[in-house]
Amino acid sequence: MPTREQITEALKSVIDPELHHDIVSLGMVRDIEIQDGGRVDVVVSLTTPGCPIRNHFQNGVMEAVGSLEGVRDVNVGFDVLSQDEKQSLSQRLGRGGGPLPAGSLAQVTNVICVASGKGGVGKSTATANLAAALFAEGRATAALDADVWGYSIPRMLGVHGRPMVSADRKIIPLETHGGIKAVSIEFFLDSEDQAITWRGPMLHKAIRQFLEDVEWGQLDYLLIDLPPGTGDVTMTLAQLLPHSKFVIVTTPQEAAQKVARRAAETAVRYDIELLGVIENMYGEVFGEGGGQVLADELDIPLLGKIPLTEGVRRASDAGTPIVLEDPDNPASQAFFHAARGIIAATPQEIRMLATPVVAGITGTPLPMAP
Ligand SMILES: Nc1ncnc2c1ncn2[C@@H]1O[C@H](COP(=O)(O)OP(=O)(O)O)[C@@H](O)[C@H]1O
Ligand SMILES: [Mg+2]
Repeated sequence: MPTREQITEALKSVIDPELHHDIVSLGMVRDIEIQDGGRVDVVVSLTTPGCPIRNHFQNGVMEAVGSLEGVRDVNVGFDVLSQDEKQSLSQRLGRGGGPLPAGSLAQVTNVICVASGKGGVGKSTATANLAAALFAEGRATAALDADVWGYSIPRMLGVHGRPMVSADRKIIPLETHGGIKAVSIEFFLDSEDQAITWRGPMLHKAIRQFLEDVEWGQLDYLLIDLPPGTGDVTMTLAQLLPHSKFVIVTTPQEAAQKVARRAAETAVRYDIELLGVIENMYGEVFGEGGGQVLADELDIPLLGKIPLTEGVRRASDAGTPIVLEDPDNPASQAFFHAARGIIAATPQEIRMLATPVVAGITGTPLPMAP
């Protein structure tokens, strides 16, 4: 029979597909027991009980340990990392660095991350239009451009410049179209083409800073345009903002919907709630239906289906989302539909006393009974 050490060595070939490290160095191997008759029991700790990639670990462990000489049977069990263990895992990876200090987003009711499996599917277009639609519906809204490699929120919302810094050294978001707040890495670059070569830890630090060091103020919705893909950014957000929710954007084709599904499953893995799917660019070119299939697979609503139309791109390129430029356009209607779906699915804090209406009233006061 192999020794514990040999089994541990073999388990180093089992790689977590999202965290890109082996399960031994990630501290996910909880227990190894060598039984009589050539049986080995291995317990793997997962980040969350319903981990969708459980099978991946099961097969990986069976293969790695089963191929050792003398092993006839491998038994794989699972348990879940404790909150502390998850924390130390993310610290080991240099991520997150723990939850945000209390009060950072104290006045933000909902944080919604817009995610996609790959780039070019309209994630930023959706973020900009949803922000505008939520704002048009009377909600205080901000868009945070966390796609540091492909930032496009400033162009789509028509907002550029360098933010001011408040007396207590917080960044004041820029405002556009009557009060939609926006923050993007673009605001902090010296020239438009300045190359940024973000490495993992820097990206995590940047996201943390955007959440912590920006004076977001009172917001009903903070929308975050995530970089495309899976994995570590999601983990960072799960650490920083355990109550954030995800909206998944996909195009109608099957291939796109498969990659989007992977992004969704990563979120599920970290206990992040999925609000729904947006299918973008449906029509003659890409077909139709991938969004509904994905929504059904994930058992979440299809929030909206946005047609592929020239107007969407033109409006974005001109800096005014189509929902503001042409609210009656079918694409705008679809974005409004999605925004109302989001409103229906998220808590609305009633701020009856938020804005004192006493000061600044003009006109003739009503005659009041003494
Ligand atoms: N429904 C649509 N109809 C037409 N063009 C669209 C639509 N959605 C997005 N686009 C265009 O497709 C390109 C990619 O969209 P973008 O939002 O930048 O994708 P991502 O953020 O996912 O990389 C942009 O030029 C955008 O204007
Ligand atoms: Mg984008």
